Amino acid sequence: MTKKLLIQVLEREYTTSIPFWLMRQAGRYLPEYRALRAEAGSFLNLCFSPDMAAAATLQPIDRFDMDAAILFSDILVVPHALGQKLDFREGEGPRLEPQKKINEINFETFDKKLAPVYETIRIVKKNLAGDKALIGFAGAPWTIACYMVQGYGDGEFSEVKKFAFNNTAEFDRLIEKLVEATTHYLIEQIKAGVDAVQIFDSWAGLLPEPYFGRWVIIPTQNIVTNIHKLYPGFPIIGFPRRAGMFYQDYAEQTGISCVGLDQHCSLEQAICSFGSKVALQGNLDPVALLAGGKTLEGEIKRILAEAGKSPFIFNLGHGVIKETPPENVAQLAKLLKSYQRE
Ligand code: CP3
Repeated sequence: MTKKLLIQVLEREYTTSIPFWLMRQAGRYLPEYRALRAEAGSFLNLCFSPDMAAAATLQPIDRFDMDAAILFSDILVVPHALGQKLDFREGEGPRLEPQKKINEINFETFDKKLAPVYETIRIVKKNLAGDKALIGFAGAPWTIACYMVQGYGDGEFSEVKKFAFNNTAEFDRLIEKLVEATTHYLIEQIKAGVDAVQIFDSWAGLLPEPYFGRWVIIPTQNIVTNIHKLYPGFPIIGFPRRAGMFYQDYAEQTGISCVGLDQHCSLEQAICSFGSKVALQGNLDPVALLAGGKTLEGEIKRILAEAGKSPFIFNLGHGVIKETPPENVAQLAKLLKSYQRE
């Protein structure tokens, strides 16, 4: 069998077609997702029901024929499996019982709680076409710690930063435990059959130096090293959202195969400064996808032109916005499928 297009790019091979998938490609903008979500009753029940979670994973592929499926789950199942109380309230986002410390991890209990996720991967693999990749994922330690310590998301996490800056050694220990849990979780996903993994560090951009190195780069580098000890060269995408000037250090120091760019940085500059070391992904503003039409077409063409001949995966700079018309995603899919570089 020939190598999957997405994996070729993650290995920095030159391809004439550009693979695409979208962060949050499964979700509320799709009527078929809303139906499945209603059937499941709660979001967590959907995440932990393997047949339904596998169906949600495959919905966008059936409709738009992306080059990769991303496992349907959530980054917060990790604190949940570590014993933290988690609740997704309608229209309010996640709520956790705040916690600043993780004791010894019992991986038997952890895997028991996450067994439905591993089962979802096995079901998807059976039903996914051979030329498509399945991406597993986890939240990065810093982003998970934000939700664990504060208990909810507000885009600022000042309480978490204050605690971390005032108690660096204690916060280091929390991050180290999360490195341990995340490594274990991603390795179990690899054993279950995912072809690549993505580490979501959605709140990386909140940390100034020297903490960006300490709580974003080093923990990510440790996870990558741990995975590569068992699976040398396994493709890992890192997404340090809003990392700005720190993107380059992240790309050069973490050992990651591919870096996900948000819409706030320049693809052209990223290619010049670290595009010879890692594959790149992302950069389309989710609002351009929401807008559709000429706006969307213009942005897609700009990105394709800037990507040039670099190893590139087309994606958004953050997740699909829930008001996005599915027709706009169909427009994007059509354009990308007809695109061939020399
Ligand atoms: O299609 C995919 O990308 C796969 C599934 C996926 C979800 N969440 C499903 C989801 C993935 C990869 C995530 C990652 C995730 N979850 C992140 C990192 C990426 C990012 O967006 O920054 C974060 C920070 C979370 C935590 C989280 N989960 C929040 C803050 C929320 C509430 C906000 C919202 O959009 O409602 C969720 C809920 C969530 N995760 C939903 C979905 C489809 C919506 C809940 C529902 O359907 O009822």
